[in-house]
Amino acid sequence: MQDSLDFSIIEHGSHAYEQACLLRDEMLRKPLGLSLFDEDLDAESGFIHVVGLDEAGAVQAYLHLKPIDLEVVKMQQVVVAPHLQGRGIGRKLVNFSEEHARGAGYREVILHSREVVMDFYAALGYRKEGEVFMEVKLPHYRHRKEL
Ligand SMILES: CC(C)(COP(=O)(O)OP(=O)(O)OC[C@H]1O[C@@H](n2cnc3c(N)ncnc32)[C@H](O)[C@@H]1OP(=O)(O)O)[C@@H](O)C(=O)NCCC(=O)NCCS
Repeated sequence: MQDSLDFSIIEHGSHAYEQACLLRDEMLRKPLGLSLFDEDLDAESGFIHVVGLDEAGAVQAYLHLKPIDLEVVKMQQVVVAPHLQGRGIGRKLVNFSEEHARGAGYREVILHSREVVMDFYAALGYRKEGEVFMEVKLPHYRHRKEL
């Protein structure tokens, strides 16, 4: 099985974006009885969309960065396909995205982590802030990292 993916920035509305939406829906919404396609995906047109593609060009990992202001982006919708988890791909996806954000002039990444994956973000240098809160039916914590 392939362990490394090619990471790249893709366009909103592209074929890869549509594939990524299916992966996001499967992993982050359907298990909660929700559908990603009930959400306003047009609102994501100004976001930075990052994918990890396998040798066949299929999307196996995704996240996006939502610009908050000229210095801060919010990382959201971080997913690695189940059969590829635990092999360092999530770390590479986040590293690639941080590098891109730094190159674009951003200085800080903020995110809301599901409680169950907080150790993933801690391993990548994200600092937990404040109290637990509920979002999309699950407990979350705010995190941030300076680039
Ligand atoms: C969270 C997720 C993106 C991690 O991707 P991954 O490719 O499995 O992660 P990696 O193999 O790169 O792991 C990097 C580090 O984080 C740790 N880690 C990974 N997943 C973890 C988890 N679920 N809980 C705790 N630690 C985790 C690893 O042990 C590793 O630490 P190390 O380098 O010190 O050994 C992936 O498990 C996923 O898609 N989960 C489902 C969707 C989800 O919950 N997304 C986050 C929404 S906030």
